[in-house]
Amino acid sequence: MTGASMRVAVDPDKCQGHNRCYALAPELFDVDDYGTASAKGDGVVPPELVDKARRAAANCPEYAITVTESAEEGSHS
Ligand code: F3S
Repeated sequence: MTGASMRVAVDPDKCQGHNRCYALAPELFDVDDYGTASAKGDGVVPPELVDKARRAAANCPEYAITVTESAEEGSHS
């Protein structure tokens, strides 16, 4: 099955609408009418978008983007 899985999340309290995430990875982020970004869907990053997810997180000036990598699929909350 799949190996490592990655998710992205945006902290709406930190996001100031710089929209760099959306510019870098529109496949992974949505922006609402107020310019606040959120992860698209459930935030799961397909393997081919892992680099983009990392780049988006690194380029957010507010550090609002969290990238979570887990070794296996499944929930441990
Ligand atoms: Fe917000 Fe950062 Fe994106 S401030 S719009 S999460 S680049």
